[in-house]
Amino acid sequence: MKNYPLLEVRVSTPKLELRASTDELLDQLAEVVRAGKTHAEPAPYDDPMSFYETDPDLRVAKWLRAVWRRRGTVEPGAWRLNFAVMVDGQPVGEQSITGVDFATLGTVTTFSWLSVDLRGRGLGREMRAAILHLAFDGLGAKEAGSDAFVDNRGSNAISQGLGYEPNGYEWATRQGEPALLNRWRLTRDAWEKHRRDDIELHNLEACHALLPLT
Ligand SMILES: CC(C)(COP(=O)(O)OP(=O)(O)OC[C@H]1O[C@@H](n2cnc3c(N)ncnc32)[C@H](O)[C@@H]1OP(=O)(O)O)[C@@H](O)C(=O)NCCC(=O)NCCS
Repeated sequence: MKNYPLLEVRVSTPKLELRASTDELLDQLAEVVRAGKTHAEPAPYDDPMSFYETDPDLRVAKWLRAVWRRRGTVEPGAWRLNFAVMVDGQPVGEQSITGVDFATLGTVTTFSWLSVDLRGRGLGREMRAAILHLAFDGLGAKEAGSDAFVDNRGSNAISQGLGYEPNGYEWATRQGEPALLNRWRLTRDAWEKHRRDDIELHNLEACHALLPLT
């Protein structure tokens, strides 16, 4: 979309590509959301979360509204870039990055899900490595955070494997029930130790022109 170049940002790795979530890609990804392929057991998402909506049409509508709201909110305190995870040319998941007081603190958090059909093949780890490359190499982040419920083995294994250090616990609710979250932090120095040389960033000029990075 030439009039909103943040929707042209891409990150490519040998296994997948993160492409900024245009409405066209969201429309395709909606079929994965409609089919409930976002879910996992134990429940991985803290409230509020559209994916817990049982009516498929309402689930898709709530998910789209949340994506659009965040796309349209670019403030120094918080901005978010949302990407469709592309594997073999198909959108199969979502990976986002949120800047939190980025100009002052240099901190980001990330969030992701992958279609249940494609889990367990290393793609979740690859998505995280890709978004971290954008954060640290592309945007100059100082630290990345990630939270996951203590029983979310996949997400916690990815954080640990990529060099994050434990950063305490926090209570949250999922589907109304209290549950404990693991908090993780990855410093720039720790990221440098795992830094990849096979991840490419594309059309990043838009981030520097349109996001409150400094
Ligand atoms: C989290 C998620 C993206 C991981 O994707 P994935 O492609 O299955 O993960 P990978 O194949 O890259 O596995 C990464 C690591 O997690 C481990 N892992 C993944 N799923 C696991 C499971 N269900 N149980 C135990 N370990 C698991 C793998 O063994 C691997 O460990 P290793 O690096 O030590 O070998 C995916 O499971 C998902 O979409 N879950 C639902 C949404 C979610 O939890 N989002 C994140 C928190 S809100």
